[in-house]
Amino acid sequence: MLEQIENRRSIRKYLNKKIEKEKVVQILESARLAPSGSNTQPWTFIIVESEETKEKLSIADHHQEWMMTAPVFIVCVADIRCRISEGIRLDENSPEPELKQIIRDTAIAIEHILLEAEHLGLATCWTAWFEQDAVRPILNIPEDKYVCGIITLGYGDEAPNQRPRKKMNEIVRYEKWQ
Ligand SMILES: Cc1cc2nc3c(=O)[nH]c(=O)nc-3n(C[C@H](O)[C@H](O)[C@H](O)COP(=O)(O)O)c2cc1C
Repeated sequence: MLEQIENRRSIRKYLNKKIEKEKVVQILESARLAPSGSNTQPWTFIIVESEETKEKLSIADHHQEWMMTAPVFIVCVADIRCRISEGIRLDENSPEPELKQIIRDTAIAIEHILLEAEHLGLATCWTAWFEQDAVRPILNIPEDKYVCGIITLGYGDEAPNQRPRKKMNEIVRYEKWQ
């Protein structure tokens, strides 16, 4: 596992090559099996292959034009209904603790997607440079759902160096904070 974790990169340039359907299914299976608090599984994944819809999404996602080189987008949506039932609308300023829980759990599933894609020789980039109200209407996502990320997926056409990470002694403490 560590080798694939080490080799994964955010890729922003893709080959013009179709992804085998079974690979997409296997990637989604890795997300389906992710752990979540109280096993709520608050996620939904929308597969987008239409050029027109991808373009709308990339524009909503801070005009990141490079996204259009990816043949598939996976739009990862968290559902607050798994934790609260009464009327609620979500945006960037929503303070509800349940929102943090559904985002946390969906983020775990997204990381499974990134790693399973790497395992299958595919490349990804998690993007999230958008506002909820810009993305939701493009895909008819209701206002009580929260889009955690748009994942670009495809065969990579660049091989960037490993991006820097903090040193182990900067991020690990033993027994207590201090
Ligand atoms: C929640 C999240 C949002 C991100 N949003 C974007 C984005 O909108 N555009 C982009 O090019 N990269 C985005 N990234 C990729 C990060 O820039 C990248 O993970 C980081 O620089 C480390 O590089 P690496 O993934 O190659 O190790 C995002 C990553 C995460 C986890």
